[in-house]
Amino acid sequence: MKDIVEDAFLSLEDLTVEYRLTRRTRVHAVSGLTVHVKKGETLGLVGESGCGKSSAARAVMQLPRPTSGRVVLDGVDLASLSHSDLQKARRRFQMVFQDPIASLNPRQTVREILSAPLEIAREKETGEARDQRIIDMLDRVGLNGEQALNRRPHEFSGGQCQRISIARALILRPELLVCDEAVSALDVSVQAQTLNLLEDLKLEFGLTMLFISHDLAVVKHVSDRVAVMYLGMLCELADAETIYRKPAHPYTRNLIAAVPEPDPDAEPNTLELVPGELPSPINPPSGCRFRTRCPLATDRCASEVPIAQELAPGHTVACHHPMS
Ligand SMILES: Nc1ncnc2c1ncn2[C@@H]1O[C@H](COP(=O)(O)OP(=O)(O)O)[C@@H](O)[C@H]1O
Ligand code: SF4
Ligand SMILES: [Mg+2]
Repeated sequence: MKDIVEDAFLSLEDLTVEYRLTRRTRVHAVSGLTVHVKKGETLGLVGESGCGKSSAARAVMQLPRPTSGRVVLDGVDLASLSHSDLQKARRRFQMVFQDPIASLNPRQTVREILSAPLEIAREKETGEARDQRIIDMLDRVGLNGEQALNRRPHEFSGGQCQRISIARALILRPELLVCDEAVSALDVSVQAQTLNLLEDLKLEFGLTMLFISHDLAVVKHVSDRVAVMYLGMLCELADAETIYRKPAHPYTRNLIAAVPEPDPDAEPNTLELVPGELPSPINPPSGCRFRTRCPLATDRCASEVPIAQELAPGHTVACHHPMS
Protein backbone atom coordinates (compact mmCIF):
# COMPACT_ATOMS: atom_id res chain seq x y z
CA MET A 1 0.00 0.00 0.00
CA LYS A 2 2.77 2.40 0.98
CA ASP A 3 4.42 2.09 -2.43
CA ILE A 4 1.10 2.84 -4.17
CA VAL A 5 0.65 5.99 -2.09
CA GLU A 6 4.21 7.12 -2.80
CA ASP A 7 4.02 6.27 -6.52
CA ALA A 8 0.52 7.62 -7.01
CA PHE A 9 -0.09 9.57 -10.18
CA LEU A 10 -3.65 10.34 -9.13
CA SER A 11 -4.79 10.50 -5.52
CA LEU A 12 -8.28 11.14 -4.25
CA GLU A 13 -7.83 12.06 -0.61
CA ASP A 14 -10.84 12.17 1.66
CA LEU A 15 -12.89 13.27 -1.32
CA THR A 16 -16.35 14.50 -0.35
CA VAL A 17 -19.17 15.59 -2.64
CA GLU A 18 -22.40 16.91 -1.19
CA TYR A 19 -25.36 18.48 -2.95
CA ARG A 20 -27.31 20.99 -0.97
CA LEU A 21 -31.03 20.52 -1.46
CA THR A 22 -32.44 22.88 1.16
CA ARG A 23 -30.94 24.77 4.07
CA ARG A 24 -31.07 21.60 6.17
CA THR A 25 -30.82 18.74 3.75
CA ARG A 26 -27.99 17.63 1.58
CA VAL A 27 -27.17 14.58 -0.49
CA HIS A 28 -24.06 12.81 0.79
CA ALA A 29 -23.01 11.54 -2.64
CA VAL A 30 -19.34 10.85 -1.84
CA SER A 31 -18.07 10.75 1.75
CA GLY A 32 -14.33 10.65 2.43
CA LEU A 33 -13.23 8.57 -0.55
CA THR A 34 -9.49 7.87 -0.58
CA VAL A 35 -7.86 5.96 -3.45
CA HIS A 36 -4.51 6.16 -5.19
CA VAL A 37 -3.81 5.27 -8.81
CA LYS A 38 -0.34 4.49 -10.12
CA LYS A 39 0.92 5.80 -13.44
CA GLY A 40 -0.14 3.52 -16.26
CA GLU A 41 -2.60 1.67 -14.06
CA THR A 42 -6.34 1.20 -14.59
CA LEU A 43 -8.32 1.51 -11.41
CA GLY A 44 -11.88 0.25 -11.69
CA LEU A 45 -14.53 1.95 -9.56
CA VAL A 46 -17.65 -0.13 -9.18
CA GLY A 47 -20.91 0.09 -7.24
CA GLU A 48 -24.62 0.12 -7.89
CA SER A 49 -26.40 3.05 -9.46
CA GLY A 50 -26.62 6.06 -7.15
CA CYS A 51 -23.57 5.16 -5.04
CA GLY A 52 -21.68 8.29 -6.10
CA LYS A 53 -19.46 7.13 -8.96
CA SER A 54 -20.29 9.97 -11.34
CA SER A 55 -20.06 12.51 -8.54
CA ALA A 56 -16.56 11.22 -7.79
CA ALA A 57 -15.66 11.35 -11.51
CA ARG A 58 -16.86 14.93 -11.83
CA ALA A 59 -14.94 15.87 -8.68
CA VAL A 60 -11.76 14.46 -10.21
CA MET A 61 -12.38 16.63 -13.27
CA GLN A 62 -13.13 19.61 -10.96
CA LEU A 63 -16.50 19.96 -12.71
CA PRO A 64 -17.56 21.17 -10.25
CA ARG A 65 -14.90 21.22 -7.57
CA PRO A 66 -15.54 18.77 -4.70
CA THR A 67 -17.12 19.93 -1.45
CA SER A 68 -13.91 18.98 0.35
CA GLY A 69 -10.91 16.71 0.08
CA ARG A 70 -8.09 16.72 -2.43
CA VAL A 71 -7.53 15.51 -5.96
CA VAL A 72 -3.79 15.31 -6.51
CA LEU A 73 -2.57 14.74 -10.06
CA ASP A 74 1.16 14.17 -10.47
CA GLY A 75 1.85 15.99 -7.22
CA VAL A 76 -0.44 18.96 -7.93
CA ASP A 77 -3.58 19.51 -5.86
CA LEU A 78 -6.10 20.47 -8.54
CA ALA A 79 -8.35 22.21 -6.04
CA SER A 80 -5.55 24.64 -5.17
CA LEU A 81 -5.12 25.81 -8.77
CA SER A 82 -6.47 29.15 -9.90
CA HIS A 83 -9.09 29.09 -12.62
CA SER A 84 -6.54 29.83 -15.34
CA ASP A 85 -3.99 27.29 -14.08
CA LEU A 86 -6.75 24.70 -13.89
CA GLN A 87 -7.65 25.47 -17.52
CA LYS A 88 -4.02 24.87 -18.49
CA ALA A 89 -3.85 21.65 -16.47
CA ARG A 90 -7.03 20.31 -18.05
CA ARG A 91 -5.22 18.99 -21.09
CA ARG A 92 -3.63 16.43 -18.77
CA PHE A 93 -6.94 14.83 -17.73
CA GLN A 94 -9.95 14.14 -19.86
CA MET A 95 -13.20 12.24 -19.53
CA VAL A 96 -15.40 9.96 -21.62
CA PHE A 97 -19.10 9.93 -20.69
CA GLN A 98 -21.83 7.30 -20.78
CA ASP A 99 -24.13 8.44 -23.52
CA PRO A 100 -22.09 8.78 -26.69
CA ILE A 101 -24.83 10.49 -28.68
CA ALA A 102 -25.92 12.97 -26.02
CA SER A 103 -22.34 13.95 -25.25
CA LEU A 104 -21.73 15.05 -28.85
CA ASN A 105 -23.33 18.22 -30.19
CA PRO A 106 -25.63 17.03 -33.02
CA ARG A 107 -25.19 20.28 -34.95
CA GLN A 108 -21.43 20.06 -35.13
CA THR A 109 -19.37 18.16 -37.66
CA VAL A 110 -16.77 15.74 -36.39
CA ARG A 111 -14.13 18.29 -37.42
CA GLU A 112 -15.75 20.90 -35.16
CA ILE A 113 -16.16 18.43 -32.30
CA LEU A 114 -12.47 17.52 -32.33
CA SER A 115 -11.34 21.10 -32.97
CA ALA A 116 -12.97 22.36 -29.78
CA PRO A 117 -10.36 21.00 -27.34
CA LEU A 118 -7.56 22.19 -29.65
CA GLU A 119 -9.02 25.70 -29.64
CA ILE A 120 -9.51 25.77 -25.89
CA ALA A 121 -5.90 24.66 -25.45
CA ARG A 122 -4.82 27.31 -28.01
CA GLU A 123 -2.99 24.78 -30.13
CA LYS A 124 -1.21 26.61 -32.92
CA GLU A 125 -1.84 24.61 -36.05
CA THR A 126 -4.77 25.60 -38.28
CA GLY A 127 -6.28 24.59 -41.60
CA GLU A 128 -4.79 21.50 -43.18
CA ALA A 129 -2.38 20.79 -40.34
CA ARG A 130 -5.23 20.78 -37.85
CA ASP A 131 -7.38 18.62 -40.13
CA GLN A 132 -4.52 16.16 -40.42
CA ARG A 133 -4.15 15.97 -36.65
CA ILE A 134 -7.87 15.28 -36.33
CA ILE A 135 -7.82 12.68 -39.12
CA ASP A 136 -4.86 10.89 -37.50
CA MET A 137 -6.70 10.75 -34.17
CA LEU A 138 -9.89 9.44 -35.79
CA ASP A 139 -7.90 6.79 -37.65
CA ARG A 140 -6.34 5.73 -34.37
CA VAL A 141 -9.72 5.06 -32.78
CA GLY A 142 -10.67 2.88 -35.73
CA LEU A 143 -12.71 5.31 -37.84
CA ASN A 144 -11.97 6.48 -41.35
CA GLY A 145 -10.80 9.96 -40.41
CA GLU A 146 -11.02 11.54 -43.82
CA GLN A 147 -14.56 10.30 -44.41
CA ALA A 148 -15.70 11.20 -40.90
CA LEU A 149 -14.49 14.80 -40.89
CA ASN A 150 -17.53 16.51 -42.41
CA ARG A 151 -20.18 14.23 -40.95
CA ARG A 152 -22.39 14.81 -37.95
CA PRO A 153 -23.02 12.47 -34.98
CA HIS A 154 -26.39 11.15 -36.24
CA GLU A 155 -24.62 9.63 -39.24
CA PHE A 156 -22.74 7.25 -36.94
CA SER A 157 -23.74 4.27 -34.78
CA GLY A 158 -23.58 4.46 -30.97
CA GLY A 159 -20.27 2.60 -30.95
CA GLN A 160 -18.80 4.95 -33.58
CA CYS A 161 -20.01 7.98 -31.62
CA GLN A 162 -18.22 6.63 -28.57
CA ARG A 163 -15.06 6.34 -30.68
CA ILE A 164 -15.49 10.01 -31.65
CA SER A 165 -15.84 10.89 -27.95
CA ILE A 166 -12.70 8.92 -27.18
CA ALA A 167 -10.85 10.71 -30.01
CA ARG A 168 -12.00 14.06 -28.61
CA ALA A 169 -10.77 13.07 -25.14
CA LEU A 170 -7.37 11.93 -26.43
CA ILE A 171 -6.54 14.58 -29.03
CA LEU A 172 -4.64 16.71 -26.51
CA ARG A 173 -2.67 13.65 -25.38
CA PRO A 174 -3.91 13.58 -21.76
CA GLU A 175 -2.13 11.45 -19.19
CA LEU A 176 -5.27 10.55 -17.24
CA LEU A 177 -8.50 9.32 -18.79
CA VAL A 178 -11.63 9.09 -16.64
CA CYS A 179 -14.23 6.79 -18.23
CA ASP A 180 -17.66 7.10 -16.61
CA GLU A 181 -19.87 4.21 -17.77
CA ALA A 182 -18.14 4.62 -21.13
CA VAL A 183 -19.52 1.38 -22.56
CA SER A 184 -22.73 0.99 -20.53
CA ALA A 185 -25.01 2.35 -23.26
CA LEU A 186 -23.54 0.09 -25.96
CA ASP A 187 -24.58 -3.38 -27.15
CA VAL A 188 -22.59 -6.20 -25.58
CA SER A 189 -20.58 -6.95 -28.74
CA VAL A 190 -19.79 -3.27 -29.24
CA GLN A 191 -18.84 -3.03 -25.56
CA ALA A 192 -16.14 -5.64 -26.06
CA GLN A 193 -14.73 -3.86 -29.12
CA THR A 194 -14.70 -0.53 -27.29
CA LEU A 195 -12.99 -2.04 -24.24
CA ASN A 196 -10.33 -3.57 -26.49
CA LEU A 197 -9.84 -0.21 -28.17
CA LEU A 198 -9.41 1.49 -24.79
CA GLU A 199 -6.85 -1.14 -23.80
CA ASP A 200 -4.86 -0.54 -27.00
CA LEU A 201 -5.02 3.24 -26.61
CA LYS A 202 -4.00 2.99 -22.98
CA LEU A 203 -0.78 1.23 -23.96
CA GLU A 204 -0.12 3.44 -26.98
CA PHE A 205 -0.65 6.70 -25.10
CA GLY A 206 0.70 5.51 -21.73
CA LEU A 207 -2.61 6.44 -20.09
CA THR A 208 -3.55 6.14 -16.46
CA MET A 209 -7.25 5.28 -16.23
CA LEU A 210 -10.04 5.63 -13.73
CA PHE A 211 -12.63 3.28 -15.15
CA ILE A 212 -16.08 3.64 -13.64
CA SER A 213 -18.99 1.24 -14.16
CA HIS A 214 -21.92 -0.34 -12.37
CA ASP A 215 -21.06 -3.51 -14.31
CA LEU A 216 -18.62 -5.81 -12.52
CA ALA A 217 -17.91 -7.90 -15.61
CA VAL A 218 -16.86 -4.82 -17.57
CA VAL A 219 -14.67 -3.53 -14.74
CA LYS A 220 -13.02 -6.91 -14.37
CA HIS A 221 -12.13 -6.91 -18.05
CA VAL A 222 -10.02 -3.74 -17.93
CA SER A 223 -8.90 -3.07 -14.35
CA ASP A 224 -5.61 -3.77 -12.63
CA ARG A 225 -7.16 -2.95 -9.27
CA VAL A 226 -10.79 -2.49 -8.29
CA ALA A 227 -12.39 -0.18 -5.72
CA VAL A 228 -15.91 -1.08 -4.58
CA MET A 229 -18.12 1.78 -3.41
CA TYR A 230 -21.36 1.70 -1.46
CA LEU A 231 -23.50 4.75 -0.74
CA GLY A 232 -20.64 7.20 -1.18
CA MET A 233 -18.01 5.26 0.73
CA LEU A 234 -15.22 2.87 -0.12
CA CYS A 235 -15.89 -0.75 0.94
CA GLU A 236 -13.00 -2.64 -0.50
CA LEU A 237 -9.96 -2.12 -2.69
CA ALA A 238 -7.65 -4.79 -4.06
CA ASP A 239 -6.17 -6.13 -7.26
CA ALA A 240 -8.87 -7.39 -9.60
CA GLU A 241 -8.02 -11.05 -8.99
CA THR A 242 -8.43 -10.71 -5.21
CA ILE A 243 -11.68 -8.76 -5.47
CA TYR A 244 -13.22 -11.48 -7.60
CA ARG A 245 -11.69 -14.52 -5.90
CA LYS A 246 -11.39 -13.52 -2.25
CA PRO A 247 -13.75 -10.65 -1.54
CA ALA A 248 -13.70 -9.84 2.18
CA HIS A 249 -16.41 -7.18 2.43
CA PRO A 250 -19.97 -8.54 2.70
CA TYR A 251 -21.14 -6.09 0.04
CA THR A 252 -18.45 -7.16 -2.42
CA ARG A 253 -19.35 -10.80 -1.67
CA ASN A 254 -22.92 -10.00 -2.52
CA LEU A 255 -21.96 -8.38 -5.78
CA ILE A 256 -19.73 -11.24 -6.85
CA ALA A 257 -22.39 -13.79 -5.94
CA ALA A 258 -24.85 -11.81 -8.06
CA VAL A 259 -22.64 -12.13 -11.14
CA PRO A 260 -23.41 -15.30 -13.09
CA GLU A 261 -20.67 -17.29 -14.80
CA PRO A 262 -19.40 -15.47 -17.87
CA ASP A 263 -21.75 -16.07 -20.74
CA PRO A 264 -21.14 -14.11 -23.94
CA ASP A 265 -24.85 -14.09 -24.74
CA ALA A 266 -25.96 -12.91 -21.31
CA GLU A 267 -27.33 -9.46 -20.73
CA PRO A 268 -24.80 -7.14 -19.09
CA ASN A 269 -24.74 -7.44 -15.32
CA THR A 270 -26.42 -4.93 -13.16
CA LEU A 271 -25.91 -4.82 -9.45
CA GLU A 272 -29.59 -4.80 -8.65
CA LEU A 273 -29.39 -8.39 -7.51
CA VAL A 274 -28.11 -7.33 -4.11
CA PRO A 275 -31.14 -7.77 -1.85
CA GLY A 276 -32.81 -4.69 -0.41
CA GLU A 277 -32.83 -1.11 -1.54
CA LEU A 278 -30.06 1.43 -1.48
CA PRO A 279 -30.88 3.74 1.45
CA SER A 280 -31.19 7.44 0.75
CA PRO A 281 -27.88 9.33 0.64
CA ILE A 282 -29.76 12.28 2.16
CA ASN A 283 -29.94 10.48 5.47
CA PRO A 284 -27.49 7.56 5.27
CA PRO A 285 -27.48 4.87 8.01
CA SER A 286 -25.27 5.56 11.03
CA GLY A 287 -22.07 3.57 11.45
CA CYS A 288 -21.56 1.30 8.45
CA ARG A 289 -23.75 2.48 5.62
CA PHE A 290 -24.24 -1.11 4.41
CA ARG A 291 -25.64 -2.33 7.72
CA THR A 292 -29.31 -2.18 6.67
CA ARG A 293 -28.60 -4.79 4.00
CA CYS A 294 -25.74 -6.69 5.62
CA PRO A 295 -26.31 -10.25 6.89
CA LEU A 296 -23.42 -9.89 9.35
CA ALA A 297 -24.39 -6.56 10.93
CA THR A 298 -23.89 -6.22 14.71
CA ASP A 299 -24.55 -3.40 17.20
CA ARG A 300 -21.06 -2.11 16.59
CA CYS A 301 -21.88 -1.67 12.89
CA ALA A 302 -24.66 0.78 13.80
CA SER A 303 -22.52 2.92 16.08
CA GLU A 304 -19.04 2.92 14.56
CA VAL A 305 -18.03 3.85 11.03
CA PRO A 306 -15.65 1.11 9.82
CA ILE A 307 -12.27 2.53 8.87
CA ALA A 308 -10.52 1.17 5.78
CA GLN A 309 -7.74 -1.17 6.91
CA GLU A 310 -5.24 -3.38 5.18
CA LEU A 311 -6.26 -7.01 5.49
CA ALA A 312 -3.29 -8.18 3.46
CA PRO A 313 -0.73 -6.19 1.47
CA GLY A 314 -2.65 -4.20 -1.11
CA HIS A 315 -6.06 -5.46 0.08
CA THR A 316 -8.03 -2.80 1.94
CA VAL A 317 -11.41 -3.42 3.58
CA ALA A 318 -13.71 -1.11 5.52
CA CYS A 319 -15.69 -3.56 7.67
CA HIS A 320 -15.83 -4.51 11.36
CA HIS A 321 -16.25 -8.18 10.52
CA PRO A 322 -14.38 -8.88 7.28
CA MET A 323 -14.80 -12.34 5.83
CA SER A 324 -11.87 -14.57 5.00
N1 LIG B 1 -26.67 17.60 -9.10
C1 LIG B 1 -27.20 16.83 -8.16
N2 LIG B 1 -28.04 17.35 -7.21
C2 LIG B 1 -28.57 16.58 -6.24
N3 LIG B 1 -28.32 15.27 -6.10
C3 LIG B 1 -27.50 14.69 -7.02
C4 LIG B 1 -26.91 15.42 -8.09
N4 LIG B 1 -26.14 14.58 -8.81
C5 LIG B 1 -26.25 13.37 -8.25
N5 LIG B 1 -27.06 13.42 -7.17
C6 LIG B 1 -27.39 12.33 -6.24
O1 LIG B 1 -26.16 11.89 -5.68
C7 LIG B 1 -26.17 10.48 -5.52
C8 LIG B 1 -25.00 9.91 -6.30
O2 LIG B 1 -25.24 10.09 -7.68
P1 LIG B 1 -24.19 9.71 -8.80
O3 LIG B 1 -22.87 10.29 -8.44
O4 LIG B 1 -24.75 10.07 -10.11
O5 LIG B 1 -24.10 8.10 -8.64
P2 LIG B 1 -23.75 6.97 -9.70
O6 LIG B 1 -22.93 7.60 -10.78
O7 LIG B 1 -23.00 5.94 -8.90
O8 LIG B 1 -25.04 6.42 -10.19
C9 LIG B 1 -27.52 10.00 -6.03
O9 LIG B 1 -28.36 9.87 -4.91
C10 LIG B 1 -27.97 11.10 -6.94
O10 LIG B 1 -29.38 11.18 -6.98
S1 SF4 C 1 -19.20 -3.18 9.12
FE1 SF4 C 1 -20.85 -4.50 9.81
S2 SF4 C 1 -22.63 -3.90 8.60
FE2 SF4 C 1 -20.83 -3.07 7.60
S3 SF4 C 1 -20.28 -4.58 6.08
FE3 SF4 C 1 -19.08 -5.05 7.89
S4 SF4 C 1 -20.31 -6.51 9.03
FE4 SF4 C 1 -21.69 -5.59 7.53
MG1 LIG D 1 -23.16 7.52 -12.87
